[in-house]
Amino acid sequence: MGDARRGPRAIWAVGGGKGGTGKTLLASNMAVSLAKRGFRVLAVDADVGGSNLHTCLGVERPRYGLGSFFRANHNDLKEFMEDTGVANLWMVSGTLDFPVRGPTTRDMNRLRNAIRRADFDYVILDIGSGTSQTTMELFLMAGVGIYVLVPEPTSIENTYRFLKEALYWSLVKSTRKKSVKAALFKAFHTPSVEEFQAIPQFLRQLSRTEPLVSRFLRSHVDSFRARLVLNQVRRYEDVEIGFSVRSAVHKYFGLRVDYSGYVSFDERVIQCVRARKSLLQTYPDSNAAKCIENLTQRLLEEGQMAFEFF
Ligand SMILES: Nc1ncnc2c1ncn2[C@@H]1O[C@H](COP(=O)(O)OP(=O)(O)OP(=O)(O)O)[C@@H](O)[C@H]1O
Ligand SMILES: [Mg+2]
Repeated sequence: MGDARRGPRAIWAVGGGKGGTGKTLLASNMAVSLAKRGFRVLAVDADVGGSNLHTCLGVERPRYGLGSFFRANHNDLKEFMEDTGVANLWMVSGTLDFPVRGPTTRDMNRLRNAIRRADFDYVILDIGSGTSQTTMELFLMAGVGIYVLVPEPTSIENTYRFLKEALYWSLVKSTRKKSVKAALFKAFHTPSVEEFQAIPQFLRQLSRTEPLVSRFLRSHVDSFRARLVLNQVRRYEDVEIGFSVRSAVHKYFGLRVDYSGYVSFDERVIQCVRARKSLLQTYPDSNAAKCIENLTQRLLEEGQMAFEFF
């Protein structure tokens, strides 16, 4: 497969604050979509607590998983890859073969290094739900961090929480100064999102005592970029939620996020999950499949949703 040190052209991480929003559906089918376009793709099931990417890719019984990788004494993911039956697409399944204690910090560092060196055009990570440090580090290592939400108040609340946490970790990791880390902790860990000091306000305050650090963090905030994808959309009013969340994130956090697209609620998705098959392979003409193809195209072009009326 060519020069092993080349590394992927891009890493896409698919996360979401809430269980069952459609992260695995999207990660698996975006991987199929990229592979169909001729890119060499590796899909990695990094959802430590709930590995089922293989099911959505139609791989019945994975031979290995990340557990085998964590136990091995080398950092080459190639040995643990499964063929998916889709041309150009391979996968590394999750931690089904791993003790309950979960991976250690060292395991996760090894995984991140291996992903950075994987010799593929694209690596797609299903990072599972939640805002643990492990999840956040995988989200932040990706050039393209994709957050999947559904049109429900609980999911929208979790979106703010997740983005706030992702930005916190991104800023904390950018500085070595203990006093700045402490100030960040205090500013970000307020009881509710509403009480959270907007980032620009926090940086203005910090600039009085630490002007250089404040300027550095501001440039870091400006370069932070996450992509929102709205799944299980049933009506046009649902589509609009993506625009509202994008505006609210900008207003409260001073943070720009892209609204990369939406995926319709579609019975075909449920049928595919039950049949353990990939949607794009089984029902390429379904509404949800078309949405995922459009979404993948938009992500490749770094585009965003525009207002559309249909
Ligand atoms: N667009 C959709 N249309 C219809 N059903 C959907 C759609 N997206 C997801 N679902 C349903 O939601 C279920 C969960 O999807 P999926 O496994 O992708 O979520 P997840 O976010 O990965 O969940 P977890 O947090 O448990 O890993 C699917 O099995 C399917 O039944
Ligand atoms: Mg999942």
